[in-house]
Amino acid sequence: MPVISVCSTKGGVGKTTLVICLADAFARQGGTVVVLDADPNGHVAAWREMAGEECQVDVVPGVNEATIQEQIEEASGRYGIVLVDLEGAASQSVTYAIAWSDLVLMPTKTSGMDLQELYRTYAVVQRTEKALRRPIAARAVFSQMPALINRVSKHARGLVEGRGIPVLGTEIIHRPAAYQAMHFTGATPVHPDGDPKAATEVRACLDEVLKVLEQGAVA
Ligand SMILES: Nc1ncnc2c1ncn2[C@@H]1O[C@H](COP(=O)(O)OP(=O)(O)OP(=O)(O)O)[C@@H](O)[C@H]1O
Ligand SMILES: [Mg+2]
Repeated sequence: MPVISVCSTKGGVGKTTLVICLADAFARQGGTVVVLDADPNGHVAAWREMAGEECQVDVVPGVNEATIQEQIEEASGRYGIVLVDLEGAASQSVTYAIAWSDLVLMPTKTSGMDLQELYRTYAVVQRTEKALRRPIAARAVFSQMPALINRVSKHARGLVEGRGIPVLGTEIIHRPAAYQAMHFTGATPVHPDGDPKAATEVRACLDEVLKVLEQGAVA
């Protein structure tokens, strides 16, 4: 079943947060989902322990460049969706994950430096497409968007789209209480005790992701 990699050449852009939220939202809709934790920091595995029995997300810790391809192959035969969390860098694991993906999500913040890293990440996807001689669907996702629109955030989407990089319509807003608390409590926004506004944007994001997968949309 579909493989979604979440990557960026930059650290701290919201990859792990997005992976955990999408996985939990999909599981709470009754889907089967596994997260392959290919970041040596192991944040997804740590969150999973905290989330407890009530959570239906499976996590495979310690995925590395030597094992990632077999682990993706095996997981895609067993789960409704497979999410891959990657470290914030270009690496062999990142390339392999992209190569196996039906969709690559590229979270980004809106500053000029963040956008430069998004363009670098997209270039990695394009090089992988070239090597494989097949198109790979990819979407930028604005993450940690300021709740109050400022001059930069207003123009960021236009800049990215102007470069021919497709962007998800849903934006993940900067909500420290909602998105940072889950690393202490295990409860994501879509948990019954979660933040309703954040839950709405996470579900909207998942809906869009599932639609892209359904359509096999490359651009
Ligand atoms: N929408 C959000 N609102 C508020 N805080 C957020 C949001 N998304 C992420 N954060 C916080 O920003 C920090 C970085 O997020 P996260 O760990 O998801 O990024 P990452 O891209 O996975 O980083 P790394 O490259 O280090 O793995 C974390 O402290 C996280 O809790
Ligand atoms: Mg991370």
